[in-house]
Amino acid sequence: MTITFDSKNEIFKLDGFTTSYVMKLFPGGVLSHLYYGNYINDTNLGYLVRFKDRGFSGNPLEARGNRGYSLDTATQEYPGFGVGDYRTAAITVELPDGSTATDMRYKCHNIFKGKHSLAPLPSSSANEDDACTLKITLVDGTSGVEADLFYTVFKDSDVLTRNVVIRNAGNYTVYLSRIMSAALDFHHSDFHLITLNGRWACERQIERRPVHHGISLIESMRGNSSHQYNPFLAFVSPNADEENGEAYGFNLVYSGNFAAFCEVDPISQTRVLMGINPTDFKWCLMSGESFTAPEVVITYSSNGLGQMSRNFHRFYNKHLLRDINKRRPVLINSWEAAYFDFTTDSLLTLAKQASELGIEMLVVDDGWFGERNNDKCALGDWYVNEKKLKGGLSRLANEVNSMGMKLGLWIEPEMISKDSRLFEEHPEWCLQVNNRHMQESRSQLALDLSRQDVCDYLYDVISRVLKSANIEYIKWDINRSLSEVQSQLSEPNRQRETWHRNILGVYGLFERLRQTFPDILFEGCCGGGGRFDPGMMYFAPQHWTSDNTDPIERIKIQMGTSLTYPISAMASHVSSSPNHQTGRCTPLHTRGYVAFTGGFGYEMDLGKLTDEEKEIIKEQIKIYKSHEDLIRNGDFYRIKNPFEGNSAAWCFASAQKDRLFFTYVQILSIPNQPLYRVRISCADENKWYKDTKTGDIYSGLVLKHAGIAIPELLGDFLTYSCEFEEVFPNGIV
Ligand code: DGJ
Repeated sequence: MTITFDSKNEIFKLDGFTTSYVMKLFPGGVLSHLYYGNYINDTNLGYLVRFKDRGFSGNPLEARGNRGYSLDTATQEYPGFGVGDYRTAAITVELPDGSTATDMRYKCHNIFKGKHSLAPLPSSSANEDDACTLKITLVDGTSGVEADLFYTVFKDSDVLTRNVVIRNAGNYTVYLSRIMSAALDFHHSDFHLITLNGRWACERQIERRPVHHGISLIESMRGNSSHQYNPFLAFVSPNADEENGEAYGFNLVYSGNFAAFCEVDPISQTRVLMGINPTDFKWCLMSGESFTAPEVVITYSSNGLGQMSRNFHRFYNKHLLRDINKRRPVLINSWEAAYFDFTTDSLLTLAKQASELGIEMLVVDDGWFGERNNDKCALGDWYVNEKKLKGGLSRLANEVNSMGMKLGLWIEPEMISKDSRLFEEHPEWCLQVNNRHMQESRSQLALDLSRQDVCDYLYDVISRVLKSANIEYIKWDINRSLSEVQSQLSEPNRQRETWHRNILGVYGLFERLRQTFPDILFEGCCGGGGRFDPGMMYFAPQHWTSDNTDPIERIKIQMGTSLTYPISAMASHVSSSPNHQTGRCTPLHTRGYVAFTGGFGYEMDLGKLTDEEKEIIKEQIKIYKSHEDLIRNGDFYRIKNPFEGNSAAWCFASAQKDRLFFTYVQILSIPNQPLYRVRISCADENKWYKDTKTGDIYSGLVLKHAGIAIPELLGDFLTYSCEFEEVFPNGIV
């Protein structure tokens, strides 16, 4: 990991773990992109810069006799607006005279050890010796507005992080109407674009298509990163698969409105931009003030999509998730077990049934507070409903604890029901546009967390609940997209800041609660996986991956999620069959093995289990517990793609590859089956392995290339799993 500046050729070179990223100053101080890919050992890449006179493209250097150089075709790192680059801009600043032209040129740079914080925004971190950062300051000569572009490379991770801080070093107030966190221009367009799209209960479905001339945009204007589009995209070579080909991944550490543009220009160069969505964004920046845009995590792999994902996973586990090593107790959640219909007694019965199976925590989901007996009321009334929970949370916690179990609780702090005491007292605390109907969604409105008074109130009331009993886990939910976004406190010229200020309020509240209750394990949730992004992961190490608990659907959702997010960040539960979302019946074995992919738990009425099912569940919990470290910290390999056939397979591998935990799921039972072999792509070619169940010995080469034979799977046994441990570490003698 090193960053160098070759002052003679004006070239910056950032070397990560195995990659190099190279930029050059073009005449006039335009910061240009030259190379990103596998490590190279020379900075002298000036020969790659080629220009050509192209009609209808402006020539900033014409006065110097150069008609070839144009911003319209140059590969740039932070392209401005309105000065001859007709592609999508990274920055637009509005000046008091109404002009919007913005042209950022090199001013100075600085290289330092370690990694800066973006607080109050979430961001990755590293020790002084584990990362190295380059800050390049650009300036717009007319307005005096400066942009600090930060680039960090890490000693142990194949990622590069970028972010931008804008500073108004001029004398008058300006408005920022577009501030992307990173732009990157590739000199070609020989790519497929991969995005993660979906909807409620069907999140992060993998979509892949060739890039094309013009602009592809993925974005959210919902106030959260959304079920519909995830703040992730990848450019991959057309032949790329799990193990081969090039893959560039981009992921925004942000949970609010985002945009990611992919533009192929007329000479077939590709520009990618990622950052806060410029739609409905306008930030007033007074002289001397600065604005920090969120971080983008970028990775490069020359070994296909699998390596791209593992680069992200390792990086997030090491440098973003602050509670990676907090244990995730096996839990029973009350939602699909009882919905709103529970009392202290019925919860204690559930806890007792759970503890007999080896489950370690009872999570009381929605319905424990106010008059909340359905989803139409009481959000905001964060006091215990003593009609349901006699003796309150403290009695429940004490009794649950006395069974040797922990207690967890659901909250939805950012929301309010119209039918609530809080709304009667503070209707002005909702996001609302003057003289417009406040639209409800799931019978709820959104609180205005851009207001400090609202955040303070929520901090007090939630802290009171958490102090009232021994609560060791919180599931933090949000169940609507935002609309009519305007704050009753802001001045008109600051209203377009509300979206971003609202998410800053969420982050601030989360951080205060984390600081006050450092031992609580937080789980994020947004009607399932509607806010599954690295921003939220900084505060909550695990997230409810989807409200869809059907294991067959979940395989696709989890595989899609794993494209960028680590398994440690996914929460996954076994639910009842027929499934409540799809009505599909699936074997309990399948439900268990699929739910092992993440923080594991159950979400079903345990009173309805047969004795045989209870035994299967006891066994599942044992298997999970003996693999939980491997699942949380190991490397994840996607082996068979569920989007392509009647089966899926994956494998967890320890860092040294001396332990492999493999799972194969057949989706439909079929008669007279073909007999399948599956290659275990993560086996180490130089090792020997023993199948821990059968004792059979395989060489790593055999597992990797010839594969294993999957037995015929029928009826209740549509899952095959096996584990391999290294034997003969010194080779067969
Ligand atoms: C949506 C969540 O995703 C569910 O798991 C559950 O907590 C409900 N909200 C409760 O309202």
